[in-house]
Amino acid sequence: MNALLEPRPRRRRMTMADVEPVAAIEAAAYAHPWSRGNFVDSLAAGYLAEVLASPRDGLLGYFVAMPVVDELHLLNLTVAPAWQGRGLGRALLDAVEAHGRALGLVALWLEVRQSNLRARGLYGRRGFVEVGRRPGYYPAAAGRREDAIVMRCLLPPDADAATGSDTDALD
Ligand SMILES: CC(C)(COP(=O)(O)OP(=O)(O)OC[C@H]1O[C@@H](n2cnc3c(N)ncnc32)[C@H](O)[C@@H]1OP(=O)(O)O)[C@@H](O)C(=O)NCCC(=O)NCCS
Repeated sequence: MNALLEPRPRRRRMTMADVEPVAAIEAAAYAHPWSRGNFVDSLAAGYLAEVLASPRDGLLGYFVAMPVVDELHLLNLTVAPAWQGRGLGRALLDAVEAHGRALGLVALWLEVRQSNLRARGLYGRRGFVEVGRRPGYYPAAAGRREDAIVMRCLLPPDADAATGSDTDALD
C-alpha cells in the first residue's frame, strides 16, 4: 500500500476496553509488568492515560501519568516491542509534556530502572535530569532488587501547547 494512503496511528484516551490489549503489550515489554489491575486502578483514579492506536495494527503504545498538585508523574510509558525504535516513544513523551503544559503544571517526574539505558537516554535528551535514586525500588531477576533513577523535567509555560491526538511519528 502507498505509505501516504496508510491509516495513521492516533492518540486517544485509554478506556477500560483497552486494558486487555494494553496489558498484553505490557507483559511483552517488561520482565516485571504492571498487572491488569494497575491499569484499571489508574483509569478509575482518573489519571491521564492515552493509547496510540492504528486502525490497521491495533494498539502500538500508551502512557499513564498522575497529576499531583502542580506536577505530573509519568507512571508508565511503553511502546509495543514490534514498534520500538521508530520514534513512537519520543512522540508519546512529547504528548505527555504537552498535556503537562496545557494543564499549567510546572514539572514532569518519572522513575526509571538504572539498567534501562534506552529510556534514560530518551529522557536525558528530552531535558530530564537525574535528581535522585531509590535504592532497590524495582524487583529484578532472581529475587534481587534494582535502583530507580528519579528524573525531573521542568515544564516552562507554553501558551501554544497543543495536545491534539494526531501523530506524524510514522510518516
Ligand atoms: C523506552 C521506549 C518507551 C522508547 O520508545 P521507542 O519508540 O522505542 O523509542 P524511539 O524510537 O522514540 O526513540 C527514542 C530514542 O531512543 C533511541 N533508541 C531507539 N532504539 C534504541 C535502542 N535499541 N537502543 C538505544 N537507543 C535507542 C532513539 O535513537 C531515540 O533517540 P533520540 O531521543 O535521540 O531521538 C520503548 O523502547 C519501550 O517501551 N521500552 C520498553 C518499556 C520501557 O522501558 N519503558 C520506559 C520505562 S521508564
